[in-house]
Amino acid sequence: CGIVGYVGARPVQGLLLAGLEKLEYRGYDSAGISILSGEQVDSVRAVGNLQALRDAVAALPHAAEVPGGAPVAVAEPTTGIGHTRWATHGRVSEENAHPHEDVDGRIHIVVNGIVENYMALKRELADEGVVFTSETDAEVIAHVISRRYDGDLPAAVQAAYGELVGHFAFVAMAADEPGVLVGARRECPLVVGRGDGEQFLASAVPAFLEHTRRVQFIEDGELVVLRPGGVDFMSPDGTPIEREVVEIDWDAETAEKGGYETFMLKEIHEQADAVAETIADRTARGDGVDLGDLGTIDDAFLRDVRRIIVVACGTSYHAGLIGRYAIEGWARVPVEMDVASEYRYRNPVVGPGDLVIGISQSGETADTLAAMRLARERGATVLAITNVMGSQATRDADGVLFTRAGLEIGVAATKTFVGQVAVMYLLALRLAELRGTLAPERLAELVGELKRLPHHITEMLDAGDEEIRAIAERHYKAEFFLYLGRHIGLPVALEGALKLKEISYIATDAYAAGEMKHGPIALLDDDTPVVCVATDSPVLDKVVSNIQEVRVRGAHVIAVASAGNEEIREHAEEVLTVAETDWMLAPLLAVVPLQLLSYHVARLRGLNVDQPRNLAKTVTVE
Ligand code: G6P
Repeated sequence: CGIVGYVGARPVQGLLLAGLEKLEYRGYDSAGISILSGEQVDSVRAVGNLQALRDAVAALPHAAEVPGGAPVAVAEPTTGIGHTRWATHGRVSEENAHPHEDVDGRIHIVVNGIVENYMALKRELADEGVVFTSETDAEVIAHVISRRYDGDLPAAVQAAYGELVGHFAFVAMAADEPGVLVGARRECPLVVGRGDGEQFLASAVPAFLEHTRRVQFIEDGELVVLRPGGVDFMSPDGTPIEREVVEIDWDAETAEKGGYETFMLKEIHEQADAVAETIADRTARGDGVDLGDLGTIDDAFLRDVRRIIVVACGTSYHAGLIGRYAIEGWARVPVEMDVASEYRYRNPVVGPGDLVIGISQSGETADTLAAMRLARERGATVLAITNVMGSQATRDADGVLFTRAGLEIGVAATKTFVGQVAVMYLLALRLAELRGTLAPERLAELVGELKRLPHHITEMLDAGDEEIRAIAERHYKAEFFLYLGRHIGLPVALEGALKLKEISYIATDAYAAGEMKHGPIALLDDDTPVVCVATDSPVLDKVVSNIQEVRVRGAHVIAVASAGNEEIREHAEEVLTVAETDWMLAPLLAVVPLQLLSYHVARLRGLNVDQPRNLAKTVTVE
């Protein structure tokens, strides 16, 4: 989602709309603005893209009074907040669009992220007589601030902040305090833009870049109070914080990529968030998994399901493969896999009692939709896993599980993939819980490890990618790369190979390591780069044997291994390490260095990684 806020003397409406336009890449299923002029608040929300909001704003009675549609006279302080939404909790509707307000309509807020304890807060507030107008978790923030409010917005936000659990960023304004905006940040991005007699606040710099390049970054766990004349930073207990003003020199295009040179790189860096958002409330209990409303697919069905069939295309298929190992391993339900374009034409044996899972980040891939429909016609129960609310897959299924990766622009899927894998793990754990196939302690341990993955991903990305760059530099002119893996490492190898081929146009093969001797071994030559997924697992020794077979043929081994495995260095020319975790969860970490390797190889070859030739983000044709 995108947030923008303004306080100053200029007409605010146009500024907010222009800011939102710059953030539209972050989500665009609904949008809204609240504007404070005098002590009167106008709030407008609309479903659809920004044009829908512009139309709704234009229909306001006083919209035309000032050129540009601004409702106030210049020189009076004007205050406003805006939001563009990418739905996570609550369907796409005007009621669920932001800004949200308290019961009297005096406190208005816009929010990104997730309030994890919203159910508890909602119950508490309902007991106090609060009537909710949306299905969102975000709305509770307006009411929590409201009940703490006695004319001092910064104090009320400070008090409310302590009551909220989760990861979010929000901005609040109060009708009784024109010229004041209060922002708060916990894990989600929020940044201040400093102007002359005016200040901006947004979830990303592009929102205000045409007005100022002077920014102040809000750190995690900080509050900020904006007034036309200045900005105060403070900790949640009210202690003032000094924050330097930084001059940024981005051009507008880089800015939309949040400072990254490409969308793909930005999206690779958003993967910790994608996993965190996807598992957040679903693992809040700690000792199990809650999947929420799965339509007509209830617990009894899941407990007794006799067989699962996963259909998908491309990267989504690889997420399904990882899910297969997890579901079979933990929940002991047999899982069949097929690429959707094959499944739909092979007259599959499928029917009542089967659960067919269609995985599609876009929710619009023609082959996947057709495979899902076919299975449903034959009486199977169909579950969709997708990143896009309202997409066709959500309508063609009996139940839906959303990944919450946010909008992905790069054609080569990265953050939606880790979101899909996270959902498959959640589903596998839930099945195991319902079927009693894992001991409660083991289940709790796996849930705990799953929750630590976003942290491991962040640490890995923060540590930098010099090593990967060096490997890319050594091999970017190669004509062929072989990828090998076993068990859970095999889908990682497949995905690593697909990423490289998609964006660098280098021929790749990905094989089950044990199967290599039946063919691909003939391709090995002096210096052929061979990427081996060798994270800790019960089959690691077997992988190491395969690495040796490769080595004696003169090939060059790049291993992805768990930190702590020192021995692997004796077998591989290059080693990329990932944090130690439960071995079944390692794919979520191991895929990241392979994405980066393809990325750097493609960049060194001078290619456009965001829009590789011949590929499309959404394939609605057969
Ligand atoms: C296209 C995209 C891939 C994606 C595949 C399946 O080929 O380029 O990144 O994995 O479609 O798309 P879906 O939306 O169904 O996950």
